[in-house]
Amino acid sequence: MWKGRFQKATAALLTQYGESISFDWRLYKHDIAGSVAHAKGLHHIGVLSAEELSLITEGLLSIGREIEAGEFEFKIELEDIHMNIEAALTERIGAAGAKLHTARSRNDQVATDVRLYCRDAVAETVGKLRSMQRALVACARRHPAAVVPGYTHLQRGQPVLFAHHLLAYVEMFDRDAARLADALGRIDVMPLGSGALAGSTVPLDREFVAKELGFPRVSQNSMDAVSDRDFIAELVFDLALVGAHLSRLSEDIILWASAEFGFITLSDAHTTGSSLMPQKKNPDIAEITRGKSGRLYGNLMSLLTTIKGLPMTYNRDLQEDKEPLFDSLDTVGIALEIFAEMVGEMEVNEGRTRAACGDPFLFATDIADYLVKKGTPFREAHEIVGGLTARSVETGVGFPDMDLDVYRGFSAAFEDDVFALFDIEAALAARTAIGAPSPEGVAAQLARWDGELGEG
Ligand code: ARG
Repeated sequence: MWKGRFQKATAALLTQYGESISFDWRLYKHDIAGSVAHAKGLHHIGVLSAEELSLITEGLLSIGREIEAGEFEFKIELEDIHMNIEAALTERIGAAGAKLHTARSRNDQVATDVRLYCRDAVAETVGKLRSMQRALVACARRHPAAVVPGYTHLQRGQPVLFAHHLLAYVEMFDRDAARLADALGRIDVMPLGSGALAGSTVPLDREFVAKELGFPRVSQNSMDAVSDRDFIAELVFDLALVGAHLSRLSEDIILWASAEFGFITLSDAHTTGSSLMPQKKNPDIAEITRGKSGRLYGNLMSLLTTIKGLPMTYNRDLQEDKEPLFDSLDTVGIALEIFAEMVGEMEVNEGRTRAACGDPFLFATDIADYLVKKGTPFREAHEIVGGLTARSVETGVGFPDMDLDVYRGFSAAFEDDVFALFDIEAALAARTAIGAPSPEGVAAQLARWDGELGEG
């Protein structure tokens, strides 16, 4: 491709070191789409004849079909996807093929390809996030009345509906989808026509080409356009955060599946055994996913480090952008798919979760609230219930079994109705504010998600 200026062949080690075809072959569809649009643009301004355009288009489409069918031979000497396709085209159609690269550089070409690729990948990932959300909502719907302790510091805090706990993750994945949709606005800008860095003396109609490719905007600065990788960094960050959310869910699932909690049962299909200990049923999917958050964060760090300190404009360092991007997309993609499946078959052991809610201390805050409703300032109420708690720990008698006299010893505000507090259903029903886990509130949230997520 550059033989005019060179007298010696490329060193074998450099060919091996510099190639990107082993990973950027994945851009082939988008590279072909970009080239077809570019050829149409060149025809539009009179650089290509109608016949040349149709030769190029047909040639590119047949190469695309061959790659799709696994019949195309990629050559490492041709370095990357752009040169592999262009060389094959020229080999097939001759002179017309050699005109395709007019007013184009691999610098604006690769930037265009990756943006097209990211656009599709975002749509696909959002689809997988939606399926994940649907699986969580469906699990919540299978167990609408399951109660479970809510935790802070991994210490039992207050009772909630299990559905409420699952819906917390539905919220997280919703923000993830919204973040990706927002990133799309910055991905969906066409760099093509920026050339190597300074556009071209050939009078391109960039807006015509953008329309062909479905880009709503064209880049406004050729130097920025060929060297900008913000959109990849942003996408890889968004994926890292999906990884963080999946990792948090993993941790909950690992705890819940333990004998100590026993809150859930995972399907045999989604657990593994031990080669040594016959009784084991391990939550590997959740563990692997918790582990994979490390590589998702690593991909982000690697990309940010690659971008840093690059002088304007394109530098070959930027070839390092693709593997972290592809890896993060693949990692999050399969994790979301397998999680949706696992959560789809996860069962809640409602007896166990309810038994865990039998811990009377879960009602301590409600007793304080009771005193507040009787006019006691909250800080004072907190101290009174702290005293009651200490008494309960000392005597081993739980709140529901203490005599009213004991209560009144701590505050004269206590009356017989205090014992009505220790009914978990009543305790949940009393939490009526927006966002709280009353059965009514949770049902409304489930209905909202059904509406927003649809059937899928
Ligand atoms: N494989 C290259 C990359 O991914 C394509 C662009 C090469 N441009 C260049 N001037 N060598 O960045």
